[in-house]
Amino acid sequence: MSNADDKFRGLLEGAPDAMVICRHDGTIVLVNAQAEKLFGYPREELLGKSVDVLVPQRLRPQHAAHRTGYVDDPHPRPMGAGLELFARHRNGSEFPVEISLSPLETEDGTLVTSAIRDITERKQFETMLREKNEELERVGLAKDSFLASMSHELRTPLNAVIGFTGTLLMKLPGPLNVEQEQQLRTIQASARHLLSLINDMLDLAKIESGKVEVKFEPVESQSVLREVAASLQSLANEKGLALTLDAPATDILVRTDRRALSQVLLNLVNNAIKYTQKGYVRVELRRVDEMVEFSVTDSGIGIRAEDLEKLFEQFSQVDRSTTRRFEGAGLGLYLSKRLAALLDGRISVESEYGKGSRFSLVLPRA
Ligand SMILES: Nc1ncnc2c1ncn2[C@@H]1O[C@H](COP(=O)(O)OP(=O)(O)OP(=O)(O)O)[C@@H](O)[C@H]1O
Ligand SMILES: [Mg+2]
Repeated sequence: MSNADDKFRGLLEGAPDAMVICRHDGTIVLVNAQAEKLFGYPREELLGKSVDVLVPQRLRPQHAAHRTGYVDDPHPRPMGAGLELFARHRNGSEFPVEISLSPLETEDGTLVTSAIRDITERKQFETMLREKNEELERVGLAKDSFLASMSHELRTPLNAVIGFTGTLLMKLPGPLNVEQEQQLRTIQASARHLLSLINDMLDLAKIESGKVEVKFEPVESQSVLREVAASLQSLANEKGLALTLDAPATDILVRTDRRALSQVLLNLVNNAIKYTQKGYVRVELRRVDEMVEFSVTDSGIGIRAEDLEKLFEQFSQVDRSTTRRFEGAGLGLYLSKRLAALLDGRISVESEYGKGSRFSLVLPRA
């Protein structure tokens, strides 16, 4: 054997894949050790045989056609060129493979080199992944429809609780003593809290199952902000916080869905009030190029830098103390982020721990 042959053989044995080299008519002229192992044949048994022995019986006619086609137009063909290929082991079993072909010019004419890789494990992995994905999708759909119907069922009795507590507190059925009134207020507050939680879950289920419809229209920003501020004013007053609104005098129109926008702003302002013990909550509106920025700044507890990323995740509450100071499900910001995305907008946050936070929502102008 010449030096060149030696080198070539070294190259062949060093290859990671099984290599089989054939003549035009499919006669095997060279194989490496990896090929012996992969197909279960000793080298002598393969040399001089047709490469067809390595192809499952059922695929041999196609294979012959492929081979002629390749010989007519030999060009390198990379692994996994979109074909589902199978090989046959000496014991008759089949396994999925990836094959790359390249022509090899020699004195005796053009040979065809094929590198063959067993992809059984990869295929199994792919199948498993596909099945898992399908399962997850089914579970997800079931969860969404469960949430949607349960939320509805839960809201109906809860509205009765809230409604009748209200009439009792208005003393319509008769007088109340101080203790009774106190306890009824607790019932009312808890029921309202539960209702808002259920509403959040319902909204999320709807968003996640793609059932939220947003209707884009020009909306006057100031009026939405005034509504949001008005509805949370008493909450701020109770805590002795100054809730201020700072917006340009001229109307700023945004292209958005009014309900979704006000829900996001309500969440942000509500959080600002909730997480601020003293000082202020400032709501601002300004134009930024082609966008409009709504921002809510507070002088509250702030958020640690390492917690900033987690804020917008589902059920995430940054307060890790065992006795939680603030009630809440940790859904508000996640929901807001999803709604903002539906509105082609973006929510971002800056905060200094112990000093305060600034959340902003940027939306396209109308
Ligand atoms: N303005 C803020 N200042 C400080 N921390 C905040 C502020 N807003 C949000 N956070 C932190 O981010 C977490 C997530 O907020 P999110 O609104 O999603 O949940 P939540 O207010 O705890 O509960 P929910 O809104 O569902 O009632 C909060 O638990 C809180 O730790
Ligand atoms: Mg919240």
